[in-house]
Amino acid sequence: MNAKIGDRLAGKVAIVSGGAGGCGAAASELFAAQGAKVAIVDRDEEAALALASRLRDAGLDAIGIGADVSKRAHVQRGVAAAHAQYGDADILFNHAGTLIVKPFLDIEETEWDWLMGVNVKSMFLMTQAF
Ligand SMILES: NC(=O)c1ccc[n+]([C@@H]2O[C@H](COP(=O)([O-])OP(=O)(O)OC[C@H]3O[C@@H](n4cnc5c(N)ncnc54)[C@H](O)[C@@H]3O)[C@@H](O)[C@H]2O)c1
Repeated sequence: MNAKIGDRLAGKVAIVSGGAGGCGAAASELFAAQGAKVAIVDRDEEAALALASRLRDAGLDAIGIGADVSKRAHVQRGVAAAHAQYGDADILFNHAGTLIVKPFLDIEETEWDWLMGVNVKSMFLMTQAF
């Protein structure tokens, strides 16, 4: 876990959707290490809380928030929780994303709708709330 490495984001508040895993976790760590206050919004609440806790242990500023960003009510709750902690956000990284690994003709319509919800609608919902 990196401790502080710079001040490029000092005084900034960042929200990272899907910020507890993969490239999102790397961004959460980097933003915090550059001085941002980071709200890690992830459907895996346990992972979001654990990463935020590790960042705080390293002397950085982060909170974890559980939310499925394909759902408007979750998004509104998640962004409100970030605002309650840090005030207005300056940076939004719409990172949450997923994929379906199966032959095209086997994909169910419900799976397609879920994929579009997570990968596309989530950006609309998060950016409006932000
Ligand atoms: N890793 C790569 O090399 C790569 C390359 C090209 C594209 N992508 C795409 O980028 C996206 C992210 O990739 P990754 O490797 O970082 O994935 P990942 O699965 O490691 O991380 C995604 C994070 O987003 C969270 N998440 C997923 N759905 C969510 C939801 N509905 N609400 C809130 N959080 C949610 C997950 O819990 C996880 O923490 C995916 O769509 C992936 O297909 C990844």
